[in-house]
Amino acid sequence: MCREPAQEIRQKKDLLVVSHIDADGLTSAAIICTALERAGLNYRPIFFRQLDEPALDEISDYNPDLVIFTDLGSGMIQQICDRALAAVVVDHHKPASSQARPMAHINPHLVGADGALHLSGSGTSFLLARALAATSEGNDDLAALAVVGAVGDLQDMAHGQLTGINRHILEIGSKAGAVSFGRDIKLFGRQTRPVYKMLEYSQDPYLPGLSGNEDACIAFLREIGIRLGGERWRRWIDLSQDEKANLVSAIIRKGLRSGLAAAKLERLIGEVYVLLSEQEGTELRDASEYSTLLNATARYGHAQIGLSVCMGDRDRAFSEAQRLLSQHRQNLVNGLKLVAERGITCLQSIQYFDAGESIQDTIVGIVAGMSFQMADRSRPILAFARTEGEDLKVSARGTQDLVRSGLDLAEALSASARAVGGVGGGHNVAAGATIPAPAQQKFLELVDGAVGRQLGL
Ligand code: C5P
Ligand code: ZN
Repeated sequence: MCREPAQEIRQKKDLLVVSHIDADGLTSAAIICTALERAGLNYRPIFFRQLDEPALDEISDYNPDLVIFTDLGSGMIQQICDRALAAVVVDHHKPASSQARPMAHINPHLVGADGALHLSGSGTSFLLARALAATSEGNDDLAALAVVGAVGDLQDMAHGQLTGINRHILEIGSKAGAVSFGRDIKLFGRQTRPVYKMLEYSQDPYLPGLSGNEDACIAFLREIGIRLGGERWRRWIDLSQDEKANLVSAIIRKGLRSGLAAAKLERLIGEVYVLLSEQEGTELRDASEYSTLLNATARYGHAQIGLSVCMGDRDRAFSEAQRLLSQHRQNLVNGLKLVAERGITCLQSIQYFDAGESIQDTIVGIVAGMSFQMADRSRPILAFARTEGEDLKVSARGTQDLVRSGLDLAEALSASARAVGGVGGGHNVAAGATIPAPAQQKFLELVDGAVGRQLGL
């Protein structure tokens, strides 16, 4: 589906790569920029938190020969075409209905695939990069970045593994020797965290008696005979196969004893993705840790650092990203504390919290997703945060169970935002919007009604 755009791109001189400020957006841009570099083409990458009219103004001011939009653009096809920009749109968000046609529009939804589950922005970008490659296997190594992007968008969570077109991409990456996959414990920090910290910070599944309790995690490991460390703390990757098996069964036994549902405990094990060309014990070796490292850069206005890491900088940019990561972790912990203190308000079909100015608008969506550990999973959660201007940022997160019952947050948020003079969009399970601050109550009523109708409540 991408041969023609590939030919068009090869003939352009002044290329602008426009992408989104999250892990999927960074990996999307890195895939395309690497493919352009390998094809000997000049490009300039720029990043936006969302593609709106001011962003399009800025893009038009560059006067580019061609703009390649990655991980955004499908919701703004009409506006892109109205500006007569020569554009290739490579996205996986729900396309807005429009008769307008850019030079090319590559999006899984256009071929009946689910962009929330089966293909990420970076996966879609990978398909274009493959078409751009000089040889048949030229850009196959970039599949590893596509896996990082898909994992960053939590596309492996619904089934405990990547599915759909993502799976084909994973197989291409595996064949190219760039990525390996296998079943393992699905807690965050397998490469870099001491095992007791990995348990302490476990959120999905939340482990009663362990999550959030450092002393209990240390005591638990001692009790089952797992040595915590010698000269340095032992990480998951330092344990023997026997120790790993022992720890997993002990967690399951403890979980069952504490009344944790078997279905939740099943989420403890799933497929994990290892980037084979990266050094063991670093964030970059594991797709999930890599994606968090990237979020820690782009969501704080340092997208160029994340992009440099994706494109191979293991020196200055990588150290800077690691520094940003520790700050990001602290911000997430503080964000969750704030939600616990302020509480979550339940409406008929949704629940929400308002972080005001206390959580940055670019990470409030991550905090909203993490808040499910203390919220009711039977309704989606909305989070509000003040933006730099006068507007309110809204982030909404659902669960796969709710999606199966009919939830479509992209639909609910985009229609409700539009009705109060804002913009919104995204995926069925995760969506966002920006609305005028005085419209908050009206917006909540509209989303509550829309979600109620979707879920047949
Ligand atoms: O900003 P947040 O992380 O909550 O966004 C959730 C999803 O919705 C992301 O994939 C984002 O790109 C998308 N989104 C969108 N249009 C908006 C806001 C967010 O497509 N106006
Ligand atoms: Zn994405």
